[in-house]
Amino acid sequence: MRENRIKYRLRQLPFSGHPLQKTDTVYRIRVVQQYTPGFFSDSYGTQLRNTVTEHSFGIKSVKKMRISVLTMMPELFGSFLQSPVVARAIRKESLEVEIVDIRAYAPGSFRHIDDSPFGGGAGMVMRCQPVIDALRACKNGDAREAEHTVILSPAGTPYTQKKARELAKTQHLILICGHYEGLDARIYPYADEQISIGDYVLTGGEIAAQVIMDSIARLLPGSLRDASTEEESFENGLLEYPQYTQPAVFEGQAVPEVLRSGDHEKIRKWRLQQSLLLTRRMRPDLFAAHRLTEEERVLLEQAEQEL
Ligand code: ADE
Repeated sequence: MRENRIKYRLRQLPFSGHPLQKTDTVYRIRVVQQYTPGFFSDSYGTQLRNTVTEHSFGIKSVKKMRISVLTMMPELFGSFLQSPVVARAIRKESLEVEIVDIRAYAPGSFRHIDDSPFGGGAGMVMRCQPVIDALRACKNGDAREAEHTVILSPAGTPYTQKKARELAKTQHLILICGHYEGLDARIYPYADEQISIGDYVLTGGEIAAQVIMDSIARLLPGSLRDASTEEESFENGLLEYPQYTQPAVFEGQAVPEVLRSGDHEKIRKWRLQQSLLLTRRMRPDLFAAHRLTEEERVLLEQAEQEL
């Protein structure tokens, strides 16, 4: 009976024209960006259309990564899912994103997903039941080994590029966004790990989930040219070398001569040397953890002699 009521309520929601719409048959919102030739063009010359479809199972056989986000603020993902790299990964079918509205799993007409903390104190705590029901629903149909559940929390392990590469290999990543003063502590055992995007406290996990999704989407096949992710910051434990484009001189600042020499080997060495110098100056922690190769040691010595 309650189930019918919930379905009915969802059906009553008017079409908002927003990319996130609620489906009327399941308690979840699934957003699929579809490539629709001739529909409309964005500034990148691609055609995008947002469609919402009913949840479907059986994607295990497709070599596609699926990310489910459990949130109480699904509307925050509308424009994010249209950002170029994420939209391209979805369009190229290497990524499927599902935004699950936790509130849709809360019973009663008020759909309370939070309550005051036992023992007193300020703020509200997110209740177990809606979060765990939403989690169970989005796990439904998956092989256990395919899933990896992450809770976004300032108390989590700091997020790194290495972790992004690791997560990009999972078949089904589930991101749980906390809110209010936190999640009921009994929710944590349902997750495989907690991740923090930095030592500061956000209002909720949604921005952190977007950071993680963006960093993963650009690593998926077909998102970017492979070389552009291989040479960037953190991939070899160093910051990326400085880049320049036209004009050759801007307000008195000239592009280093070597980059205009056409000598590829010289350019490679210069870039590596710049990476080392930049990392040593800006991120001494990364530099200390980096094991210098013989070539890198010589390049640093040369830089010191040139000073
Ligand atoms: N939620 C609130 N703050 C956060 C942070 N720093 N990282 C991940 N999730 C969060």
